[in-house]
Amino acid sequence: MDINKIQNLKNQAISSILEAKSDKELERLRIAYLGRKGKITQILKGIPSLGPSERKEIGQIANDAKKAVEQALADAKKAETVKKIDLDKDWIDITAPGKKPPLGHIHLVTDAIQEITQIFEKIGFTRIAYPEVEWDWYAFEGLNMPENHPARDEWETFFIADLQNKRYGNAVLTPHTSSGQVRELEKSKPPIRMLNIAKCYRRQSDISHSPMFYQFEGLHVDKGINLTHLKGTIDYFAKAYFGPNRETRLRPFHFQFTEPSIEVDVSCDICQGKGCRLCKEGWLELAGAGIVHPTVLKYGGIDPEKYSGYAFGFGVERVLMMKSGLKLDDLRLLYANDLKFLKQF
Ligand code: PHE
Repeated sequence: MDINKIQNLKNQAISSILEAKSDKELERLRIAYLGRKGKITQILKGIPSLGPSERKEIGQIANDAKKAVEQALADAKKAETVKKIDLDKDWIDITAPGKKPPLGHIHLVTDAIQEITQIFEKIGFTRIAYPEVEWDWYAFEGLNMPENHPARDEWETFFIADLQNKRYGNAVLTPHTSSGQVRELEKSKPPIRMLNIAKCYRRQSDISHSPMFYQFEGLHVDKGINLTHLKGTIDYFAKAYFGPNRETRLRPFHFQFTEPSIEVDVSCDICQGKGCRLCKEGWLELAGAGIVHPTVLKYGGIDPEKYSGYAFGFGVERVLMMKSGLKLDDLRLLYANDLKFLKQF
């Protein structure tokens, strides 16, 4: 009996086992080498008929070959099961319903702007937008606030460095939508019913202010317009937006570009008018308004003897915060981009 022949047989068996692609093939190899008539079995069967010295050596090698092939078969079977388990994991149920990708939604402020637009469109106002980067003249001078007028301080304006115009002065980030008033008057003839909704900027930040915020400005110019029209329009808006149970109040105020001037408050929805950290005294200021100053009409090329008008400017975030049931008591949350907050709406 040749020792090399046994070693070759073993190597052959193991390499075939490693290449085997299925359980069936492994079984076929087991029978071919270790089965009753298998090649290794035959050798083992022949051992008793060998001479005593040969018997020991060949017996040892043949037994080792048998064990090695058995081990190779066992290992290959294990690998086969592992492969199967992986396949189980990767199994795809093609009948399962698809996973929905997360969907975003319109931001609360955009939503409020759309609702406000609709409310005013119903009574004939047309929406328009004027520049966010504005000339001093439209933001102040054209609104009866000449250079160095102390009233300008209230607007805490951001100025754009190195951008000036000989006629219109310095460039600013528009601090209010009233800058659209003179632009609109210059452009259109009465009757005018403008709704200017735009971003505004002021150097301010606390629970009811953010450096960038939105305002909506109404301007209505026609023959015989007076304060009762303004009051009626504000009441109409408040009922449409806040519902019938909320109260608004008008307080006398001063603006350079309206005479008389008022401020508009709404009863606070957060504390139901009792007073809280946001409103302090039960009412929240929403808007400034008044009858357009004759000087402003003149700047816009409109004869104040023939026409009169009212204007109002509301904070969009303020009215949104006062919407019944919303209970939002920090304006800055609207711009914090926190998904935990935004996903609630
Ligand atoms: N522009 C004023 C402000 O931002 C509000 C206002 C608008 C007042 C229109 C009167 C008329 O405070």
